[in-house]
Amino acid sequence: MRGDNIVLIGMMGSGKSSVGEALSRTLGWDFIDMDRTIEEREGTSISDIFAVKGEDYFRGLETELLKNFKGKHVIIATGGGVLEREENFKLLDDIGTVIYLYAPAQELYRRIRKQTHRPLMGDEDSFCELLNRRTPMYERAAHFEISTDRRRYPEIVEEIYEKING
Ligand code: S3P
Repeated sequence: MRGDNIVLIGMMGSGKSSVGEALSRTLGWDFIDMDRTIEEREGTSISDIFAVKGEDYFRGLETELLKNFKGKHVIIATGGGVLEREENFKLLDDIGTVIYLYAPAQELYRRIRKQTHRPLMGDEDSFCELLNRRTPMYERAAHFEISTDRRRYPEIVEEIYEKING
């Protein structure tokens, strides 16, 4: 297994946080949700950070946080845009096994469309455009790719377990 951490990447709605929590229960490892950690540190919501300080500031916080994970032994859910910074590709590769969770665009959008806390969600067309632009980035960064389409968490967790131990 590469590095010590398990790092989940993928678009908004791909299940990074839910799968991360389920995996954490199965493996008994701590789980860290980068968005929640950033919100706690900044004392405000992601939407607020985007609105007040801008996306670039947020991306800087993501990069700084990633640098802290080297040598740790945790499960990390990244934010969907973590690869918007080129330097983060190497950081991810250095800290652990990178797993790309994917599902069809319509399914991803269906999962999140009623939620209001994602500043970059947009309408369905812009969401699909963003996904198309990011898909090669996720594929480039990933050591493994796992579908979350019409699958239950225990099945996904089992597949991840097999991949990291295989
Ligand atoms: C973002 C995804 C969000 C969060 C922020 C930006 C993105 O995380 O980091 O709103 O650029 O796709 P989730 O993927 O957990 O929704």
